[in-house]
Amino acid sequence: MKKTLAFFVVFSFLLSLGSAFAVPHKRYDATTKTCRVLTFYNSGWVSDGNTIFKKSCKTCHHQGNDKGATFLYTESFTPKGWNRVFAERYPACARNGSWASLSQEQILKLNDFLYWNGWGTYDPNSAESCG
Ligand code: HEC
Repeated sequence: MKKTLAFFVVFSFLLSLGSAFAVPHKRYDATTKTCRVLTFYNSGWVSDGNTIFKKSCKTCHHQGNDKGATFLYTESFTPKGWNRVFAERYPACARNGSWASLSQEQILKLNDFLYWNGWGTYDPNSAESCG
């Protein structure tokens, strides 16, 4: 009896993991009030968003930087957390003009990339996670 219960608990936990980790296919963008359709090509590591993140954010947010910026990578926030970063633009760097060279289109692509790759989106059982 106890074994059956233990099995059930482990099994339900595994099931819940299956639904918690999944690549998102759509993103509601509050700044433009549009629904953006995400694919591996427009939001995966091959996308423009990845390049923008490296060239415009990681320049400060890399490990051991001397800019006073915390280390950031795609999994620093959940997809929702990244949406909030861009919708509210609350980080100090968004307010002091460090994002000023980016166009709205680039910011949208960057948000798509970070949303697609945010914490909890990696699913080893999905072909989309391996590209
Ligand atoms: C000129 C350097 C610089 C650049 C470029 C820069 N940041 Fe920042 N960012 C900072 C600093 C300094 C802070 C405040 C300290 C901290 O919380 O990391 C910060 C804070 C943040 C935070 C809050 C971190 C937290 O843990 O709450 C986020 C999110 C963020 N930046 C995202 C970005 C994104 C996205 C980009 C690219 C569009 C970017 N930053 C570009 C310097 C920079």
